Amino acid sequence: MSLLNEIEPLKQSALAELKSASDLAALEQTKGAWIGPNGKFTALMKQLGTLPKEEKPAAGKLINAAKVELEAALGARREELELKAALPKEPTDFTLPGRRRAVGKLHPLTQVTDDIVRAFRKIGFVVADGPEIEDDYHCFDSLNTPADHPARDSQDTFYVGQAAASGAKLPLLRTHTSSVQIRVMKSQQPPIRIIAPGRVYRRDNADATHNPTFHQIEGLYVDKNVTVSDLKGTVEFVFKELMGSDVKLRFRPHYFSYTEPSLEIDFTNSLVKKLGKDWLEIAGCGMVHPQVFANVGYDPEVWTGWAFGFGIERIAMLRYGINDIRLFYENDARFLRQF
Ligand code: DAH
Repeated sequence: MSLLNEIEPLKQSALAELKSASDLAALEQTKGAWIGPNGKFTALMKQLGTLPKEEKPAAGKLINAAKVELEAALGARREELELKAALPKEPTDFTLPGRRRAVGKLHPLTQVTDDIVRAFRKIGFVVADGPEIEDDYHCFDSLNTPADHPARDSQDTFYVGQAAASGAKLPLLRTHTSSVQIRVMKSQQPPIRIIAPGRVYRRDNADATHNPTFHQIEGLYVDKNVTVSDLKGTVEFVFKELMGSDVKLRFRPHYFSYTEPSLEIDFTNSLVKKLGKDWLEIAGCGMVHPQVFANVGYDPEVWTGWAFGFGIERIAMLRYGINDIRLFYENDARFLRQF
């Protein structure tokens, strides 16, 4: 058979083998067997030189065209096999349920705090903030709290660091948010209408109603001619917003060193009745003591005001019927999911 006649059948065999290579490795091998340096098709090209002169151009043309065709077939099959290798081995089951990301929720204490803040914002209060690591001055002295007050005892308050030999006062973890009152009044002139939610610390042993850290919200209103009835009206509005319109409040005389007169607020509604109680003590409040105004540089003859502080946990417990304060801090998702 002449060389010319060999080209076409050889090309056909090569094409068939390239097209049926089952994976990339097999394809490379097939390529080597036909068009590699020692391939059968390459050998054919080498024989061109042995042809009579007049046959050379036609044979050369034919061989070149066949080679282009083989290269194209090789490229096409390589692309197919690469795509196949990249596809998932297992078929996809589109009927399987999708993977869902668990959606988080705000902590119940955050929800209650947000609701309280929202209620106060409606009547023009803004949120103020202060540090949790405080000093004696902002937590006690400036609030007219006498040096022999039990809150100052290291049994009752967390002091931070080692007592220095010089007797310098140690920083402390604030025992109440009332310190924010002082920080706000020291930094601006009246009128003032602020609330300050935040974390406070006391050396209590944890039990169903106590925890060494809990949350309070402080309120402070300073202007001219402020009265106790402004205080009552404000607190009543907020508690009705928060707990519903069947809320009743009762104000009892009490003592706090930074207010005069001082009052305690008792709260009742159907939830309190369900607990078998008539009233629940919910907040302390009063008219800002003239000495506190003097301490921050306000003229007590010109300015009047009221302040209050209450615990956020207690309100959340009442609202949701929670009977153990420790549940708030355990991060048990089974508990937290319910709110
Ligand atoms: N600081 C008090 C406490 O922790 C609560 C309180 C009472 C805050 C009377 C006040 C207030 O602003 O006027 O128990």
